[in-house]
Amino acid sequence: MIFKVLTLFPEVILSATNYSILKRAQQKGLIKIEAINIRDFTIDKHKRTDDYPYGGGFGMVMTAQPIIDAYESIKPAKPHRVIYLTPQGKTYTQRYAEQLSKEKEIVIICGHYEGIDQRVIDMIVTDEISIGDYVLTGGEYAALVVIDSVSRLVKDVIEEKSAQEESFSTGLLEYPQYTRPLEFRGRKVPEILLCGDHKKIRKWRRYQSLLKTIKNRPDLLKDFELTDEDREFLIKYCETQKIVL
Ligand code: ADE
Repeated sequence: MIFKVLTLFPEVILSATNYSILKRAQQKGLIKIEAINIRDFTIDKHKRTDDYPYGGGFGMVMTAQPIIDAYESIKPAKPHRVIYLTPQGKTYTQRYAEQLSKEKEIVIICGHYEGIDQRVIDMIVTDEISIGDYVLTGGEYAALVVIDSVSRLVKDVIEEKSAQEESFSTGLLEYPQYTRPLEFRGRKVPEILLCGDHKKIRKWRRYQSLLKTIKNRPDLLKDFELTDEDREFLIKYCETQKIVL
């Protein structure tokens, strides 16, 4: 998987991806991350990459010329996706990450200020993506979220098993995890995790996933097919906790 990131701050992308799993994945050649400095392509004599918005209004808009020239310089493989990160985009999800992980190459455009000239979007962008309903200072932080979440789905970047059980892959949030020591500041690891009965542990984890989901993300349960056993457990739990569903 190749990521080609068009940005005014290549160092943000390159430094943040030079650690841990992403660093190893690059060393093994499983992913490649290139950062292209948009400013290198401006023909403005003052090296500017932004200008005032037509029609007036607050802030500056990134001009089309250096972005389009930067894009044309990288000669991306065909077909490829061109992502523009913006709070006006479609909401990014694990499903979206899974879809993107099937691509060979992804071009990512990071915006700044009040965004980029609409003609760039009309000319080359295939996906406008938002990573959530809040506004960041720049697209680089959102690009890193996309790069990280897609990379870990690329074959051999992480162990396949750990991707299977995690939050969102199953439709439920992940169960709580514990490691040594057995007791920390008076808090013990739940007894059931020590019993060695894997069927019982699986069931406990399933119930814990259900509880975490109902507490933190009840909206996820709308699209989730509960088993009869799940339903029975949740009804009993809600009765004892006096929760009205
Ligand atoms: N740029 C600024 N805010 C953003 C967001 N929420 N998602 C993606 N890109 C952004």
